[in-house]
Amino acid sequence: MAVERTLSIIKPDGVEKNIIGEVYSRFEKAGLKIIAARMMHLSQDQAEGFYAVHKERPFFADLVKFMTSGPVMVQVLEGENAISRNRELMGATNPAEAEPGTIRADFAKTIDANVVHGSDGEDTARSEIEFFFKNDDICPR
Ligand code: PPS
Repeated sequence: MAVERTLSIIKPDGVEKNIIGEVYSRFEKAGLKIIAARMMHLSQDQAEGFYAVHKERPFFADLVKFMTSGPVMVQVLEGENAISRNRELMGATNPAEAEPGTIRADFAKTIDANVVHGSDGEDTARSEIEFFFKNDDICPR
């Protein structure tokens, strides 16, 4: 198994629900280490830049509006198969389709407010981590 890093975001609805600790606990119980973390309120430019790959999609403006609506908690997770493991913990993008016991099934209401983001592949993970963190911000152990 490969030790990987992935980028995770607890979105504004997750921060508002006060479940940062609950989500972190799920990461840790699944063997994922939090090796960098940052709470921030995304600017319009940051949200548009982060989601640039979706800029032609019909929900882009709503997604940017939502992601700038309040603070987010951004973290780098490290562990064996961290990318897929995190996505398993998150559950499907649409909470109505998420497996019971996943973060989105337990806490998310709609596809546009679905509590967490996780990188979907190795290249994305690398570029998303670089988007938010410098090498010096990351503390592997
Ligand atoms: S994914 O994860 O890429 O397979 O999902 P995708 O359907 O491509 O969605 C990409 C991100 O857009 C968000 N999304 C939406 N936001 C607002 N309104 C609607 N209708 C909507 N549909 C999808 C979805 O939560 C994904 O966000 P991230 O942060 O990548 O999980």
